[in-house]
Amino acid sequence: MRTQVAIIGAGPAGLLLSQLLNRAGVATMVLERQSRAHVLSRIRAGVLEQGTVDLLNRAGVGARMAREGQHHSGCYLTHDQQMIRIDFAQACGAEVMVYGQTEVTRDLYRAQDAIGAQHVHGVKNVVLHDLAGKTPYVTYDLDGVTHRIDCDFIAGCDGFHGVSRKSIPESVRREYEKVYPFGWLGVLSETPPLHEELIYANHPRGFALASMRNPMLSRYYIQVPLSDRVEDWSDAAFWDELKLRLPSDLARDLVTGPSIEKSIAPLRSFVSEPMRFGGLFLCGDAAHIVPPTGAKGLNLAASDVHYLSEGLIAHYTTRDSSGLETYSEKALARIWQAMRFSWSVTTMMHRFPEHGAYDQQMQRVELMQLSANPAAQRLFAENYTGLPY
Ligand code: APR
Ligand code: PHB
Repeated sequence: MRTQVAIIGAGPAGLLLSQLLNRAGVATMVLERQSRAHVLSRIRAGVLEQGTVDLLNRAGVGARMAREGQHHSGCYLTHDQQMIRIDFAQACGAEVMVYGQTEVTRDLYRAQDAIGAQHVHGVKNVVLHDLAGKTPYVTYDLDGVTHRIDCDFIAGCDGFHGVSRKSIPESVRREYEKVYPFGWLGVLSETPPLHEELIYANHPRGFALASMRNPMLSRYYIQVPLSDRVEDWSDAAFWDELKLRLPSDLARDLVTGPSIEKSIAPLRSFVSEPMRFGGLFLCGDAAHIVPPTGAKGLNLAASDVHYLSEGLIAHYTTRDSSGLETYSEKALARIWQAMRFSWSVTTMMHRFPEHGAYDQQMQRVELMQLSANPAAQRLFAENYTGLPY
């Protein structure tokens, strides 16, 4: 079997790349190791930068997002019972769209079905071949039969644990990693959100976040030690701890309910360079991971897909391969900016085991600057709502 671009992974990066390429007449084949139901069962953040919204609209998958998404022109940072609102609109004239990643993925699948895009789910033993040569190909197993896909290029959209990044020789890869000494315990509940905007809380007991999916679906997080397990936390214990970390006048209004999803995720910052090796291009979590504090994961996958799809479409339609030659450098320039922002907000808002009184003073002063300094608010707002592509 032959295609123009073989795409490994049917997460947001793989599906969005497939959708944009197919709409431009570039043939693709998406290989996904999980079932579609499993992919759609994932609960992930959905704070979309304007660039991501624009890209989804260009891909023809923006209709439901426009109907059901929520426009947010600000968010809150809290500490010492104070509420600091960052007014995105006033600070930089931008906003974000709150629309769950699960819904983005669902919309992408529907659009891919409508154009008859090629997907194979449940694949095993995906192996990338001849990446440094001129005839890259992919082999995979399905129902005990080994298949081969010959292609011009391979897009590694298979996330942090995928096969693509590891197919680049270690001698070529430069990897940067920071593992944070805590995790996030997240709860999804069919309750009305605490507030109409997101609330990020810095508290001596630890970080907390009040977010949402829609007017009757709320998402909350509290920072927990890495040694904690989900079974250590009853719903009641979670709600009690969350209330302790929020300003008391807000905590009083918190509507609690049974968790319909509860999980602990570790936090790490990770980048693997370069994002191209011969015929292989890495996209999204396959190349980088951000701590969720800055809500950049999905948005970086989108900007990678923007750069790669533009490069591939130009290659096939005008024989101009300059976008492919500059892909890694261009994507990494934006990724490192998002890495800095995610790291800085994580450092400002969490309790670190090794932090002393001086470090906590630094957090307090940073938050006071954000409260009083328009330049500080603009820098935060520009990064949170998304730097230009
Ligand atoms: N073969 C085929 N598919 C694979 C393989 C493999 N060897 N390894 C992983 N996959 C699939 C996974 O099952 C997953 O569906 O690749 C997909 C990768 O999707 P994501 O992990 O969602 O990564 P990405 O598409 O880059 O989206 C990034 O998702 O993880 C969040 O926070 C992250 O919001 C960000 C977004
Ligand atoms: C979420 O709603 O899951 C969410 C929102 C913002 C973040 C992280 C997670 O920064």
